[in-house]
Amino acid sequence: MTSLHKTHLRTHNCNELNENAINQTVMLTGWVNNRRNHGGLIFIDLRDHFGLTQVVFDPAHQKAYEAAKSVRSEWVLTIQGKVKLRGDKLENKKLNTGAIEVEAHHITVQSQAKTTPITIAEEKGKASEETRLKYRYLDLRRKKAQTKLVVRHNILRSIRAYLDQEEFTEVETPLLSKSTPEGARDFLVPSRLQKSSFFALPQSPQMYKQLIMIAGLDKYYQIARCFRDEDLRKDRQPEFTQIDIEMSFINPADIMTRMETMFQKLFQEVLGKPLITPFKQLTHHECIESYGTDRPDLRFDMQLVNIQEVAENSNFEVFKETITNGGIVKAICVKGGATRKEIDNYTTFVKQFKLGGLPWTKCSEKGELTGGIGKFLNEECKESLTKMLKIEKDDLILFGVGPKDYVNQALDHLRRTIAEEKNLIKNTWEFVWVTDFPLFSLDKETQQLTSEHHPFTAPNPADIDKLSTEPLKVRSQAYDLVLNGYELGGGSIRIHQATLQDQIFASLNISEEEREKKFGFFLDALKYGTPPHGGIAFGLDRIVMLMTNSQSIRDVIAFPKTQNATDLMMESPSEVDANQLKELSITTVN
Ligand code: AMO
Repeated sequence: MTSLHKTHLRTHNCNELNENAINQTVMLTGWVNNRRNHGGLIFIDLRDHFGLTQVVFDPAHQKAYEAAKSVRSEWVLTIQGKVKLRGDKLENKKLNTGAIEVEAHHITVQSQAKTTPITIAEEKGKASEETRLKYRYLDLRRKKAQTKLVVRHNILRSIRAYLDQEEFTEVETPLLSKSTPEGARDFLVPSRLQKSSFFALPQSPQMYKQLIMIAGLDKYYQIARCFRDEDLRKDRQPEFTQIDIEMSFINPADIMTRMETMFQKLFQEVLGKPLITPFKQLTHHECIESYGTDRPDLRFDMQLVNIQEVAENSNFEVFKETITNGGIVKAICVKGGATRKEIDNYTTFVKQFKLGGLPWTKCSEKGELTGGIGKFLNEECKESLTKMLKIEKDDLILFGVGPKDYVNQALDHLRRTIAEEKNLIKNTWEFVWVTDFPLFSLDKETQQLTSEHHPFTAPNPADIDKLSTEPLKVRSQAYDLVLNGYELGGGSIRIHQATLQDQIFASLNISEEEREKKFGFFLDALKYGTPPHGGIAFGLDRIVMLMTNSQSIRDVIAFPKTQNATDLMMESPSEVDANQLKELSITTVN
């Protein structure tokens, strides 16, 4: 059979040959993975994207043998020769080609290579991340890195196939655009023709996809590049990719069901992993109560329990004072307990989240709560606590005490850290929909309302009469999909009436003039017959990161930026020519 990979430089790739090819004359082209000299023979492992094949040079084929002597790692060679069986004891079971070797009769050096700053052959090379990013093309030459890009491709293919089958239309939307209110800073692009004017790169195609629904396309998707100038983390890049989706005439349940099917198909096709649907659902309120965060990791227990009443009835002054001052007390139960040193470490840990300390008590062998603040708890308190937290002997109870936001944040991080340290995290895929988000939150600095999702999100019809009286109590029709503690995506049912949209802009304290300037075209479009519609967007990079078990989305992006939003390989951003700036009428200040 002819190889799928046959070209003028090879008959097979480096992962194809086996016993069936014995005595065939073949041609392979690839990189020198390594070279070994053994008892008069020279061995080269030739590598390409697909795998490795052992090539052996015998002095009997003198020209090839002599040439092989000077070959170095990462040179690109074409070799011609005969396929031979390696023999029983010499087989390498780890390789697909491990039963054979190619005896080289002829060698062509296609290109030589300098000594690479990254070892390609060893996956555990010691190169720093800085070096790996500077020489990203060499980093990507390693099998592990290439596999991630292939999985990324497979993920996209599965998602595209599903959306195709469901009759979604892929539409490309502009990158030279206008600011979209997704909550981050914009990347701006100066216009040469319109002096002192700027495009903004889209933070998401939000308004475009709604306009596509107004245009009547019914079901849209786009693998969309988005740009946000925000503080970076391991799951955030300034430039990232969304699987962006919008549909007309749907409700949240319709969207959730379709997306669950999409993920089910994706996990089956790419990982061979069946997912159980429907996914769990938790309200935003339930999440904050039980996990302290709106992206809960459900792979382990250790839920936060509000113990306000117990705290009030205790004799512990810190509890009482906190509650009098409007704070809260929550507890978590660490199964099997912890050492004194560990408790000290947890106490130091929560200080970064502004908690004053971390009161604790323990359950003794006899099942009694003793030690730490145990002495301040009467029998009734102890009994309630034991029930509420399902305490058993040897368990450790940790108390978060202080303002609500601090306690939630601290216990969320503490819970995840302890689970990691104590190996409590199950090897599962825990999807959960988070629903019933508040429509607005209050900006602590400006004391203004801001959109919890974005200003196009529809309020829950049941709460609409509270819009002007108690806006912070209005729930939205937004939903997030969370996987293993990461927000994979978020979306909402949109506002489809111009008057309500205008009212929301007004609640956000956007002046009439600004509304007209920023969103006039959009408010106008809403007046020409807008279908009820909604959608969602998933972070593709995060999906790939989780599905490839990677540490950061940097690992699954071909050419990522550093933590400081720079490209070490291209050395960008960089200064530009003075003439270019002049054409744009821009002067820079140092
Ligand atoms: P949102 O802002 O929640 O919603 O973004 C959707 C998803 O995009 C991913 N994401 C990121 N990934 C990597 N780096 C970043 N800087 C980054 N920022 C966001 C996350 C997130 O869940 N237009 C709305 C969607 C809608 O309403 O349909 C939007 O963009 O996985």
